[in-house]
Amino acid sequence: MVTLQLENLGAGYGQREIIREVSTAMFFGGQVVAVVGPNAAGKSTLFKRMAGLIDGPGQVILQGSKKGPAAISYMPQGLNASARLTVYESVLLARKQLTSGWAVDDDELKRVDEILAALGISSLSFRNLGELSGGQQQLVSIAQTLVREPEILLMDEPTSALDMHRQVQVLSFMRTLARQQEAIVFIAIHDLNQALRFADQVLVIADGTSPGSGPCYEVITEHMLRSVYKVQARIEQCSRGTYHILIDDVV
Ligand SMILES: Nc1ncnc2c1ncn2[C@@H]1O[C@H](COP(=O)(O)OP(=O)(O)O)[C@@H](O)[C@H]1O
Ligand SMILES: [Mg+2]
Repeated sequence: MVTLQLENLGAGYGQREIIREVSTAMFFGGQVVAVVGPNAAGKSTLFKRMAGLIDGPGQVILQGSKKGPAAISYMPQGLNASARLTVYESVLLARKQLTSGWAVDDDELKRVDEILAALGISSLSFRNLGELSGGQQQLVSIAQTLVREPEILLMDEPTSALDMHRQVQVLSFMRTLARQQEAIVFIAIHDLNQALRFADQVLVIADGTSPGSGPCYEVITEHMLRSVYKVQARIEQCSRGTYHILIDDVV
C-alpha cells in the first residue's frame, strides 16, 4: 500500500519563503486528506512543492508506490489547457502525457468515457473548453487529473465553483476512488463541514506551516477554529450523530 509523509518541507518563490517546516502524520492509500487553512496560508504552494513543480528543503516520503514519478498528479486551481481543445481531447491529452507514444487504445478511450460519465459531463465531450462555465471547467479539470489514475492526487479547491449537488457528487466520487484504487486524495477545501463529512484526515496549513494533522475529529476543534481562523465556533452533533461546525462570530 502507498504511504506518504511530509518531513520539514519548505518552499517559496525566488527569495521569498512561503512554507517552512511542514511535517505531517503518515497518510495511507485509501484515505482522503482535507488540506485546510486561511487564504494565502500556503496550501497551493505546498501542493506545488509536493508535485515537484517547485523546489525547497525537506522531504516528501513516498513509499509503496508502483508508478514512480507518475504517482503524483496535481490539479491546479485554474483550468490548465488550451481553450481551443474539446473537453474530450483535453482529457485524453492529459492521459497521454503519461505515455511515450501517441497511439490511443480502446482501454484509454473507455477510461475517458468512464471519467466523464462519473462526473456527469459526458454531454460536454465535444464542446470547446473556452465555452464552458466556471463550474463546468472545474469538472473538466478534475477529469484531467483522475484520468491519469495517480496514486497521490493533489486537488486544489476542486469544489470551489460547484453547486451543492456537484460538490457532494465530486467529493463522494473522490472518496470512492480513494478506497477502490487505494490512492491518497488530498483535497484543499474551505468548507470544513464538507471536510468533516468526506475526509478521514486533516492537514492544517496556517502562516506557511502546519500546526497539526491527523484524524478529522482530533484536528478540527473549537480551539483550532479560534487560533487558525479567528472565529468563535461550536462543533455540535446533529440528529444523525454527525458533527457540524456552527460559526457564531469572528474574534
Ligand atoms: N507564483 C508566485 N510568486 C510569488 N508569490 C506567490 C506565488 N504564488 C503564490 N504566492 C504567494 O504565496 C503565498 C501563499 O499563496 P498560496 O500558496 O497560493 O496560498 P493558499 O493556496 O493557501 O491560498 C501568498 O502570499 C501568495 O501571494
Ligand atoms: Mg490556493
